[in-house]
Amino acid sequence: MVEMQGLSKQWEGSPVLNEISFKMKPGERVAIVGPSGSGKSTILKLLAGLILPTKGHICLFGEKQTFLRLDQSNPPDVRLVFQNPALLASLTVEENVGFLLQRSGILNNEEIHQQVMFALKEVGLFDVASKFPGQLSGGMQKRVSFARALINETVDRNNRLPLLLYDEPTAGLDPIACTRIEDLIVKTTTLAGGSSIVVSHVLSTIERSSERIFLLYGGKFQWEGSIHEFRESKNPFVNQFRNGNLQGPMQPEDN
Ligand SMILES: Nc1ncnc2c1ncn2[C@@H]1O[C@H](COP(=O)(O)OP(=O)(O)O)[C@@H](O)[C@H]1O
Ligand SMILES: [Mg+2]
Repeated sequence: MVEMQGLSKQWEGSPVLNEISFKMKPGERVAIVGPSGSGKSTILKLLAGLILPTKGHICLFGEKQTFLRLDQSNPPDVRLVFQNPALLASLTVEENVGFLLQRSGILNNEEIHQQVMFALKEVGLFDVASKFPGQLSGGMQKRVSFARALINETVDRNNRLPLLLYDEPTAGLDPIACTRIEDLIVKTTTLAGGSSIVVSHVLSTIERSSERIFLLYGGKFQWEGSIHEFRESKNPFVNQFRNGNLQGPMQPEDN
């Protein structure tokens, strides 16, 4: 489903990712964790085809990715749910969620309305379709961005299932709003029939939304294992991350 091999990314000469490899099965939900600046968002942007690797390659659904997504003729279905919900302020909630469907022109207005209302209902939003993003709380805006990720904007010719990418989906939310978003990650991924990669620092998010964890530091995956192993592991990287210890193998670069 997803395979990265010997993947490296450098920004202006400084290496961020150093020959990382990664494999993911269809339907799997994984989390990537690691300190700020370790390159987690960079991995998501590479998978979403927003940037190209310096070295190595990415295969999605068995196809080697060699172009930026915008330059691909039959791009794989990869949906990136940003940390910031990035809703368009001048469009209503309904227009925001249906934006890509309108643009693709494969459905009529009534069909688009049905799909949008279904997606909003699934994320627990009612009576907000005609509101503007600025009229909603932060947690509700996040849910709108999840509703957007539920929309099948194209009829995929090869029946490929979507890959959903979530960048810090619960950053800045209170614990209850966090739980709601975590359950939505699982629900959205299951409803879309896809796989997901969650990038997060929040322990509850990591544990509730994924089955397997990768810990990124120093340009490499330093550890990989199940949620259960993550809780029990004596690995120094895992231990430091889990407990927020100052002492350990992970140190800020400017120290
Ligand atoms: N567009 C860019 N240009 C230059 N450097 C970048 C760019 N994007 C990210 N970086 C650098 O790459 C490193 C990893 O960034 P990022 O993937 O955002 O980390 P994380 O998401 O783990 O906090 C950081 O040192 C950051 O400054
Ligand atoms: Mg980031």
